Amino acid sequence: MRIDVITVFPDMIANAVSYGVIARAITRELLKIVVHDLRDYTNDKHRSVDDYCYGGGAGMLLKPEPLFKAVEAIDANTDDRKVILLTPQGRLFNQEMARQLSLSEHLIMICGRYKGVDERVRESLVTDEISIGDYVLSGGEIPALVLIDAIVRLIPGVIGNYESAQDDSFSDGILDCPHYTRPAEYRGMRVPEVLLSGDPKKIKTWQRQQALARTLKKRLDLLKKELLSNEDIEFLKTLGYE
Ligand code: ADE
Repeated sequence: MRIDVITVFPDMIANAVSYGVIARAITRELLKIVVHDLRDYTNDKHRSVDDYCYGGGAGMLLKPEPLFKAVEAIDANTDDRKVILLTPQGRLFNQEMARQLSLSEHLIMICGRYKGVDERVRESLVTDEISIGDYVLSGGEIPALVLIDAIVRLIPGVIGNYESAQDDSFSDGILDCPHYTRPAEYRGMRVPEVLLSGDPKKIKTWQRQQALARTLKKRLDLLKKELLSNEDIEFLKTLGYE
């Protein structure tokens, strides 16, 4: 996969992708990240990327010309290319969107700043608008990094044991079950016996039930009937789920 990021703070992106799972994906050539400084696509001596809004009002907007030029300068080496604008007005990002985006060959991310971008950028350049939550950040860089992290770890081969991403919270629509490591007893707190039993079937049932119970308690909104088996529903009923 290739990801191009267009930003006025290129170091913010370049630094953050030089750690951990993302850095490893780059080293293994499963991922290429190219960071573009939006100011390189200006042609005035102040390298200005923003301007006042027509019609007045407070705040500055990212101008259309540098953004169009930056996207046009990126090789269109595939048809499977998305131009994503990070904005609080976008579709709310979730694990399913991360999964779908992890199948793309080429993503271009535009990090908004100031009051946002000229509307013509949304209309003619951008294919997807994505938000990471109902709050306003001072720019799209942190949201772009959130997307990159969530997407890249789903590319097959990036995480050592691909299973571990498949078992994450949300990957099957509900929260993950509790996990324990050694020691089996710490300060009087014991690891549940079933996990020490060595019985894979019993362990699997326990893990599923714990995940369901946890989701019922913390994130009722995630429990969708169509994703639940009859056994799941029977178990949830014992906890008062209707
Ligand atoms: N830019 C500013 N706030 C944002 C948010 N919540 N999501 C995506 N981009 C943003």
